[in-house]
Amino acid sequence: MHNVADHQNKNKICLVTGAAGFIGSHLVRCLLGAGHRVTGIDSFTDYYDPKIKWNNIADLLQHPQFDLIEDDLIEALESLPQAVNWVFHQAAQAGVRASWGKEFEIYTRQNILATQRLLEWARMNKPERFVYASSSSVYGDVEKLPMHEDDALKPLSPYGVSKLAAENLCTLYYKNFAVPTVSLRYFTVYGPGQRPDMAFSRFIRAILTEGELVIYGSGDQTRDFTYVNDIVSANLAAASRPQAVGRVYNLGGGSRISVNEVLSILADLTGRPVKVKYGDVQEGDPLHTFADTTRAKDELGFCPQIEIEEGLKLMCESMQSRAER
Ligand SMILES: NC(=O)c1ccc[n+]([C@@H]2O[C@H](COP(=O)([O-])OP(=O)(O)OC[C@H]3O[C@@H](n4cnc5c(N)ncnc54)[C@H](O)[C@@H]3O)[C@@H](O)[C@H]2O)c1
Repeated sequence: MHNVADHQNKNKICLVTGAAGFIGSHLVRCLLGAGHRVTGIDSFTDYYDPKIKWNNIADLLQHPQFDLIEDDLIEALESLPQAVNWVFHQAAQAGVRASWGKEFEIYTRQNILATQRLLEWARMNKPERFVYASSSSVYGDVEKLPMHEDDALKPLSPYGVSKLAAENLCTLYYKNFAVPTVSLRYFTVYGPGQRPDMAFSRFIRAILTEGELVIYGSGDQTRDFTYVNDIVSANLAAASRPQAVGRVYNLGGGSRISVNEVLSILADLTGRPVKVKYGDVQEGDPLHTFADTTRAKDELGFCPQIEIEEGLKLMCESMQSRAER
């Protein structure tokens, strides 16, 4: 997908929000590697240990083409560079389970309000492209699989509602003010540096420390797992392809398997026993996700490169070497 970038797509000035997070840090590394200049912004929220986020970008901080703004997006709009070509809006309060109850206030601020403020900023500063990190959680439990971009959207969690609201804001700003937005609906992303609250991270950590891991539900639920590098490549295509403007795309890795099957792959890969405890189904978690990626394939050239066995192997190796260090 990178090779679509011609001479016009070199030396771009990029803004990455949520730059120190799991996906944001991989994206920054790829943009710098491709010769672009990047300003990252991250407020290092305490949803999980900020030390992990500093670690994600430790190697990038010395890069001459990278500047980091350590601040809250809503507070720091005035300090963002004005001449930006590509915006990649990754910052959000993630997590389905934590989004119920009182905490929803955080989700409305970080996911909805922050996106609206950044869109206003984009309206004034006119970047060439504004790529928004949306989510499969906008679908909820659908009547048929795979999920298609034009299906009815019925999120099951407050988190999903907040991601959908922000996606709708992107479409609204495109239609009313020609802000060149693209929304990418990520399906469960994994790989080195995955957030510590996410399933693969929790599973591998438990296996490496010979602890017990918890599965919410029977383990028969299936997910379309997507390797982080494939998500990053699609972001670059969404920024550079003219036909992507105003569009919404599913990004799923095509590796739809059950959580129990994931455990059996992990047992084989690590050669260690897997101690499992089955907990209650979590409210807000859909039973199955599976992306129809025809549109992304046709318009973005999206073609996931990493299958689940290989991706899990890379993730295990990375977590093992981080643990040894
Ligand atoms: N990881 C997945 O499987 C997945 C799936 C679907 C969608 N997404 C979306 O992808 C994006 C990145 O997810 P992630 O897994 O890397 O999460 P993450 O929590 O690792 O990264 C998000 C980063 O945003 C920062 N942040 C939050 N609010 C901010 C604010 N107001 N100002 C500045 N920084 C702020 C956080 O400190 C964090 O470092 C999010 O928008 C998320 O909703 C992720």
